[in-house]
Amino acid sequence: MIRVAAAGDVHFDRNSRGRLSRHWSELAGKADLFLIAGDLTQVGHEEEAQVLADDLAECPVPVVSVLGNHDFHQDQQEAIKGRLRDAGVHVLEREAVTLKVNGTSVGVFGLKGFGGGFLGACCSDFGEPETKAFVRHTKMLAEELRHGLEGLKSDYRLALLHYSPTPDTLLGERKEIYPFLGSYLLGEAVDAAGAHAAFHGHAHKGIELGQTPGGVPVRNVAQPVIRHAFNIYCLHELATDIGCAPVAQAARA
Ligand SMILES: [Fe+2]
Ligand SMILES: [Fe+2]
Repeated sequence: MIRVAAAGDVHFDRNSRGRLSRHWSELAGKADLFLIAGDLTQVGHEEEAQVLADDLAECPVPVVSVLGNHDFHQDQQEAIKGRLRDAGVHVLEREAVTLKVNGTSVGVFGLKGFGGGFLGACCSDFGEPETKAFVRHTKMLAEELRHGLEGLKSDYRLALLHYSPTPDTLLGERKEIYPFLGSYLLGEAVDAAGAHAAFHGHAHKGIELGQTPGGVPVRNVAQPVIRHAFNIYCLHELATDIGCAPVAQAARA
């Protein structure tokens, strides 16, 4: 049984030191790995990432992360990645990591993703160059997501995103901003590759449970949604029982 702890949108700032380290240090025996679905920082400053790296130092399980849109705000995304990688975090940006857990391999392909909207209310790559650039960026990332997931030879294949691959988990957000919260193209990529589950954040006012059109379980683990330091998911249950509840939850952060 593989247990995945997950959270997103921790939004650390310079004053966040110690906010979550106690909870994360208690992951031993509760989870086998910890996924963080982007928006690691508040305004994208590398000093904020260092505070997060320090809080993660006591985390006893492997940590895998992607960046979120906030982490790009100051153009310090490379420095943010560096600070976290120096602390041992697997920061994935269009790349994969495979971890071995009790003889079972868990592959994670991670990228931030981007917006564009969902079927019936989405942008298309037509018209002004700015519009086409927006849509084509998502198309490129979705293609990379599909290839990356297909390339995983692990027992489990997980997608770790910041933007949502389904409108399911956006319920509660204003529909006007759905195109800025995710894209159906990401969901199509997850379905085409046959991933076992997808995790994302970004939609602070959304809901936790959803699935892609093809039935892959999706979990919005943004901390304002899960309202805990992390949730824990049993991969076997996620892969076989769509809509199952987390097997355990951490103490309220
Ligand atoms: Fe966020
Ligand atoms: Fe975000």
